[in-house]
Amino acid sequence: SGQKKLALVGFGTVGSGVYEVMKAEVRKIERLAGSFSIPLVIVKDTDRSRNVHPETQVTDDIEELFKQNIDTVVEVSPDAGTAYPVVRRLLKQGITVVTANKELVALHGEELLYIAAINNARLYFEAAVAGGIPALTSIRHTLKTNKIERIEGIVNGTSNFILTKMREEGTSFEAALAEAQELGYAEAVPDKDVDGWDAWYKTVILSQWIHGKNPDWAEEKPHGIRGIDVRDLHLAASFSGRIKHTAVLEGTAASVAPRFVEADHALYGVEGVNNGLNVQGSIVGSLLFQGAGAGKYPTASAVIEDVINHWTNTAEAEPPVSDEEPERTSGEPEPFP
Ligand code: HSE
Repeated sequence: SGQKKLALVGFGTVGSGVYEVMKAEVRKIERLAGSFSIPLVIVKDTDRSRNVHPETQVTDDIEELFKQNIDTVVEVSPDAGTAYPVVRRLLKQGITVVTANKELVALHGEELLYIAAINNARLYFEAAVAGGIPALTSIRHTLKTNKIERIEGIVNGTSNFILTKMREEGTSFEAALAEAQELGYAEAVPDKDVDGWDAWYKTVILSQWIHGKNPDWAEEKPHGIRGIDVRDLHLAASFSGRIKHTAVLEGTAASVAPRFVEADHALYGVEGVNNGLNVQGSIVGSLLFQGAGAGKYPTASAVIEDVINHWTNTAEAEPPVSDEEPERTSGEPEPFP
């Protein structure tokens, strides 16, 4: 079988976390999955210095991905637009991709999974929903016996972090958001976090994962947390509750909005950057998953689990794949900027 070759596309918060942890845990990973190397890292900006081993090539030339006999690509670039054509090409060539890119999977997952399936490749995205929580894998396990009737989740770490900071410390929205950006929780464009789009994408992924189709949205757009101020949060507290930004998926009916939750609500105590998923199974009843929903190491943890599961052929979590070729989801591939 020989040595496995892994490449990274993106070397920001998540990418550098994956690289660091795979280096630090090389013995453990190699004991599980055999020997591997990381010969290639693709970045946008080659002027910035990257803390990588001298044998790892850092380049902005994506063609290198196709020249070096790469087995597995970790795609952790910031948005769907640039990632989509690259991931599509990789899968077409039978190269497996592990991604943390929610927007990519929400907007193009159906097509990409189909391309993967017919080209003997795989597409993994555990890190795309609820950061470090192995949510998709756990839900797939639960689905073996249960119908998933309902999920309510805090799935945007940045929004939960901001609401927690504002309530506990009286921090302004802007200052709390700036802190979430510094800590590497927020997206490159943080509007997607605070306007609810990030939670929307994650809800799409959950619905596709569970029901094999997109959600039926209650409204055309999500509601975010931008309009909430400290007084609203204190008012909620005076009614023994909290305002939490949650996604609800009931069957395929979905909505994303801030909601008042009482103290006995499953998600009331999910605070800071944590995510929480309250999953209602038809047989098991109510399950609560909680843990870091964003950040360098928790997200890297989920990415690396996918990589190891792939290399050891132990990924149980096969997503539903359509029987017919889905429509191409956008126009011609754009060049990687
Ligand atoms: N920006 C995202 C969040 C990262 O805050 O939840 C994890 O998907």
